[in-house]
Amino acid sequence: MYLRYHGLIVPKETHSYESLEFAQGFKFEDDDVLAVTYPKSGTIWMQEILPLVLNGGDLTPIHTIPNWERVPWLEEKHLARVVAKLASPRALVSHLPYNFMPPSFCTSKAKVIYLMRNPKDIMVSSYYFHQMAGFLEDPGTFDEFMDTFLEGKVMFGKWTDHVKSWRNSELGDRIMYITYEEMVQDLPAALRRISDFLGCNLTEEVIQKIAEHCSFKTMKNNNMSNFSLIPKVYLDHDKSPFLRKGIAGDWKTHFSSEQLARFTSVISKELEGESFPLP
Ligand code: PPS
Repeated sequence: MYLRYHGLIVPKETHSYESLEFAQGFKFEDDDVLAVTYPKSGTIWMQEILPLVLNGGDLTPIHTIPNWERVPWLEEKHLARVVAKLASPRALVSHLPYNFMPPSFCTSKAKVIYLMRNPKDIMVSSYYFHQMAGFLEDPGTFDEFMDTFLEGKVMFGKWTDHVKSWRNSELGDRIMYITYEEMVQDLPAALRRISDFLGCNLTEEVIQKIAEHCSFKTMKNNNMSNFSLIPKVYLDHDKSPFLRKGIAGDWKTHFSSEQLARFTSVISKELEGESFPLP
């Protein structure tokens, strides 16, 4: 089910050795925009937001192009097929840790938005995702999956390694950090930050329009964004919808006090000495 690329675990269904090599050879342009996330942090949210922010709120791409082709993953198989069709400025997403970024990314001026989410909510979201995704290993019980997650035996490895790699990347004003929680709390404010960072100068009317079209409810009903076009054998929404709850703090209804203590102890130890704020 999984492939190891220089030690990084990725699902074989969506990735291949060739797709990962293609990412390594990918030529970044200075006006490219990349949203980076650890899985289940809000990637598809960014696939909705970025085209709208970059094109002044034109809904055509989000209504006509499936998200994996509209804002493709740098490391997935689809990129080679759609790269020539991407409108400029191009928007991409990636789950890669910083140390897996291709050389052209480091020498370009491409901007990056690093989206972080509370790891407890990531784990909950990932647990349900492993149940509904036919191409991922069965997660076992919630308690067993917590160990798998904390040990980094999941796609893209440990959350703490991912976050540390990007928080310490020293990309200066090329990188903007944002949290899922901030977006849930006040999406228009988050969109203003993103728009300012990308130099897009959007009016308040356009910001409000984008916020409406990127709401959880609207995205859940958008067939180009809710993965309903993917056959059930790969993604079974009857087991758990991809757009599941879309809230911050769902971990509170899943973690026992023992699990909370175990989770917190591992994460705090691995982040010891780091000064960046946590979601
Ligand atoms: S993946 O598989 O890594 O690409 O998944 P990813 O898109 O990163 O994360 C999926 C979670 O993001 C939630 N989501 C949203 N929340 C609020 N508002 C909007 N618009 C939105 N879009 C996606 C999605 O519901 C998953 O979280 P959970 O907690 O499972 O609901």
